[in-house]
Amino acid sequence: MASLTIKVIFCMQLLPLLIGAFSVIRINGSWDVEEGMLRRRSGHQREFDYFKLSLLWPGTACRNTTRCCSSNACCRSNSPSVFTIHGLWPDYNDGTWPACCSGSKFDKKKISALLKPLRKYWPSFSCAPTSTCNHGKGTFWAHEWEKHGTCSYPVFLDEYQYFLMTLNVYFQYNVTGVLFEAGYVPSNSEKYPLGGIISAIQNAFHATPELICSGDAVEELRICFYKDLHPRDCASGSIIRSGRVSSGSCPRYVSLPTDGSWGNKQVAGISFKLCFAVHLLLIFAFI
Ligand SMILES: *[C@@H]1O[C@H](CO)[C@@H](O)[C@H](O)[C@H]1NC(C)=O
Ligand SMILES: *[C@@H]1O[C@H](CO)[C@@H](O)[C@H](O)[C@H]1NC(C)=O
Ligand SMILES: *[C@@H]1O[C@H](CO)[C@@H](O)[C@H](O)[C@H]1NC(C)=O
Repeated sequence: MASLTIKVIFCMQLLPLLIGAFSVIRINGSWDVEEGMLRRRSGHQREFDYFKLSLLWPGTACRNTTRCCSSNACCRSNSPSVFTIHGLWPDYNDGTWPACCSGSKFDKKKISALLKPLRKYWPSFSCAPTSTCNHGKGTFWAHEWEKHGTCSYPVFLDEYQYFLMTLNVYFQYNVTGVLFEAGYVPSNSEKYPLGGIISAIQNAFHATPELICSGDAVEELRICFYKDLHPRDCASGSIIRSGRVSSGSCPRYVSLPTDGSWGNKQVAGISFKLCFAVHLLLIFAFI
């Protein structure tokens, strides 16, 4: 119970941020939250500058699992133990990105030939449907295609090409293989130097990646590509300054956890729901 209280107090510190986000929604009707960032939408969007291949670490993603269902890869008996695909995202060099670029809706039939590898290497880690463009809801693939894939024109001309080429790039640049080879293997006790992980990727692909952490656990690893799909540095990639290395939200020593235990997941679920309820109440009091 004591640890629950601490978690609630900790989550209260996020309140000003949340109220800020809600004010933005109220002022600017068209918005979109993804990976904690606000993304503005515009009718006409210029052509993107480069691709970012975002990969998820299942051991970290599955810590969020509070409920099981057939679409959630965390619940599979052979749940993945390699980085899986989150998406291939067209980005701008200035750190922003286009989203929802055309009215082309996701159609599962168009990728029926790819379903087997997609289920294996591009799974969802959640049971909840994901937002798609125009206030819709759909599968993880629908979200990735409508929000990001549609902006990959003119490099990819349709949905099939987007999914096929993303799989190809993923197979060609095996981040899991590079890290395992360098000794960075899944473990719930080991901590690895962030700089070592970044160097391993740099040595293999001659490009600087970007990492996203949840606490000290690696949540995502992203590698970037020119439009011809040759690797390049990520624009907001890892920064190495006076011997210190930083990347996204990661501390200097990070972990690659194997699946969290179900008990921990349940406590996390309860405290999250509590936190959410408290926030909602307070937001209504403030606005
Ligand atoms: C709302 O959008 C406009 C332009 O789309 C922008 O200039 C303004 O800063 C936005 N307001 C907030 C609070 O984000
Ligand atoms: C897990 O939950 C945290 C906190 O709610 C969130 O920031 C993070 O993006 C989630 N991770 C995944 C992989 O969904
Ligand atoms: C990448 O490398 C890992 C570890 O060596 C291996 O298990 C996996 O099958 C490889 N993935 C692909 C898509 O080749």
